[in-house]
Amino acid sequence: MEEKIIELLKDKQEYLSGEELSGTLKVSRQALWKHINFLRELGYDIAAVPHLGYRLISVPDRLYDFQVYQGLKTKSLGRKIIYFDSLSSTMDMATQLALKGAKEGTVVLAETQTKGRGRLGRIWYSPKYKGLYFSLILRPKISLDKASIITLLVGVSICEAIKELLGLDLQIKWPNDILMYNKKLGGILTEIKAEVDEVNFIIIGVGLNVNNDSKSLISGSTSLKENKNEQLSRLNILQEVLYRLEVNYQILEKNGTKPIIDKWRQYAITLGRRVKVYSHKEHLEGEAFDIDSDGGLLIRNDSGITQKVIAGDVVHCR
Ligand code: BTN
Repeated sequence: MEEKIIELLKDKQEYLSGEELSGTLKVSRQALWKHINFLRELGYDIAAVPHLGYRLISVPDRLYDFQVYQGLKTKSLGRKIIYFDSLSSTMDMATQLALKGAKEGTVVLAETQTKGRGRLGRIWYSPKYKGLYFSLILRPKISLDKASIITLLVGVSICEAIKELLGLDLQIKWPNDILMYNKKLGGILTEIKAEVDEVNFIIIGVGLNVNNDSKSLISGSTSLKENKNEQLSRLNILQEVLYRLEVNYQILEKNGTKPIIDKWRQYAITLGRRVKVYSHKEHLEGEAFDIDSDGGLLIRNDSGITQKVIAGDVVHCR
């Protein structure tokens, strides 16, 4: 109902009479009034003038589910948004929901996280109303050894969305860092529930610095606002990222990993560089010369031997 009211008021751009609104929505004037007040509590500025009706003055910078649905171009991803003003981590909530059978495409989104986490136990700072912090539930029909392609697919989708909306060129540092001018703009956290060889579900966590001011950014990181010098619509960015994710996910389902890897190469700054990789098993050093069809990083060490890394922390040497 809220979604519809906002849509009608947005379309009209001037006063819309209570009679017309309640008639279109098929609710009583009293019920309409309750919905208008609820929207006001959510931060919508709606003027009400006797004999004229209602007019939308301003929309809050929030990612309410019904706001996201409006103008969303996807068929399934993000069609169910579970919104929180604050949450410890969207990853935990998404995992709980997935275990209870939540549908593929469900998104858990928070305006801030008190225990946002990154890879390798790192903290993900999630200042309120500044960034995008969400987890997406996927149930891909792929084997466990192919699952890391999903992280690459998400990276590509973020880069494409930002290029399309803001004209900015982002880069990806294998496997999951989204960079801008060599500073960290965002990250992807992939958590998998699998049985033997079959993926049960994957939770994709995305953190993206959007409207963070320079002084609130940790060292080595950046935000879209810092580069565009203006406040940006987190809503439009979220919708475009979800759309790109869906398009690439369909490509993966239909055509396999190759088109995704080909796209990924365009954004990768790790390839062709000398790297050190720290994984829980070993430390490697050499030239990162390619990725294989599963998304693993191929490294040629100084003796000319090729080794494949599936997970780890990469440091670019020079
Ligand atoms: C990384 O760069 O190490 C990954 C960062 C992932 C952060 C996101 S924010 C939404 C989701 N919830 C979390 O607690 N983490 C991910």
